[in-house]
This record gives sequence, structure tokens and C-alpha cells, in this order.
Amino acid sequence: MTERRPIIAGNWKMHKDHLEAIQLVQRLAYHLDESDYEGQDIVVAPPFVALRSIQTLIDSDRLPLALGAQNCHWEAEGAFTGEVSAAMLARLDVAYVICGHSERRALFGETDEIVNRKVKAVQKQHLRPIVCVGETLEERQAGRAEEVVVGQLRGSLAGVKVVDPEELVLAYEPVWAIGTGETATKEDAQELCAAIRAELAELYDDATAEAVRIQYGGSVKPGNIRELMGEPDIDGALVGGASLNSDDFALIVGWRR
Ligand code: PGA
Repeated sequence: MTERRPIIAGNWKMHKDHLEAIQLVQRLAYHLDESDYEGQDIVVAPPFVALRSIQTLIDSDRLPLALGAQNCHWEAEGAFTGEVSAAMLARLDVAYVICGHSERRALFGETDEIVNRKVKAVQKQHLRPIVCVGETLEERQAGRAEEVVVGQLRGSLAGVKVVDPEELVLAYEPVWAIGTGETATKEDAQELCAAIRAELAELYDDATAEAVRIQYGGSVKPGNIRELMGEPDIDGALVGGASLNSDDFALIVGWRR
């Protein structure tokens, strides 16, 4: 069995201006133990306006943190007022781009096709997409969770090539668990992450499916990270609310201590 390298990412959403962002990363770095960085990827995804400041901080303090963006446009440049391209993010040493977060799907009309274009644009710049999928409460109650998630996965990854499986990250985020304090049980999270891995084997091959990392997201906290990470198909977490507090995020990142 492949040993998958854990990946914990903080999705700050529309929180923290660039000065607050610097403070948060400095505090986080202070709380982290050197061992937390070993054999594990730690990503912070602040709003666009803070990327440059955080990049500079990471550089000057030689922090082993990876920079993430929360979104991008699928074209490299052009007349797209208000948009930011993956090419621009690459110039800022961004390593990961969250694609198709449920808030983008629900509030900004992102379809699987749009997510798919973004994933390809991100890969073209040699950045790593974190592709989000997840069902709503209604879909879960109707017994359609797996069907919805697999459908999103197929649509978002259509025609996407995976050369190095480390370069593709998936995030299973049930919509009903995001920002609600309600976490999926570890069994439910595992079940859907396993379904995602099985679908990856269909879309690619067993070796790829075995090596791609799958995060769980939705009310991840210091109190539940360990049990989630203990599940065989959960390789990391995409953390919203709790990543805005340096103490909490450090405890989550330090789940192995
Ligand atoms: P949450 O958000 O941790 O606040 O539930 C997770 C996410 O939306 O990525």
C-alpha cells in the first residue's frame, strides 16, 4: 500500500486583511513544532490580496508552509474584469488552488464544467488543484450522496490527466457540514472518501487511485481531527473556520503529536 503524505489546508475564505493575515501566519509558525512539518504538507489559503504578503513572509522566515489560493480563472489572461488567473498565482509561488468549493458552486454558479476548466488551467501552470466535491443535506437524505459526489468528480476531472498523483488533491466536503459545527461521522466521511477513491480507479487506474490524496472538510476541529485522520481513505483536512485561529489550526496540524 502506498503511504500517502498527509495534507492539512486552511481555507480562510473571505477573512483577514493582509496585515491580519501576516499576524495569523506568524502566530501559527510560533505554535508549530518542527515535527509537524515532517512528512506532511501544510497549506494556508488566504484571500488573494494577502497572497503577496504571505509569500514574502514564508520566503523571509523560510517557513515550510505552502501557499494556496481559493479560486482562479481558467484563462491565463484577458478581458475578465475582477478575475485572477492561475498564471498570476504561479508567479506568486502559490502551490495549491482550491477548485469548485461548494460556496463557489452554490453562490457563484460554478458548474462541473467550469470547475473542470479551472482544474486544467491550474495544472497547466504546474500548480496543484484541490478539487472539492460534496452533497447537500437534501441529497444525503434522499440517499443520493454517493451518486452526487461521483457525478461531480467525473465532471470536474473530465479529460484531466494525472501524471504525478501527488499533484492532484481531492476534498470531500459535505455541504451540510461546512461552517455548521456538524461534522460527518468518521464512518460517513470514510465511506464517501472510499467511494471517491474507487471512482478514481475507474477514471485512471488502481495505482493512481491509491496514491491521490483525499481530504475531508466540514467543521474539522482539534477535537475531531485525529479520529478522521485515523480512517484509511482520509489523508488530510480542508479546514475553514478553525484555520482562522492559530491555536486551533496548530492543534489540527499537530494531530500526530
Ligand atoms: P469549515 O469549512 O471548516 O468552517 O466547516 C470547511 C470549508 O469550507 O472548506
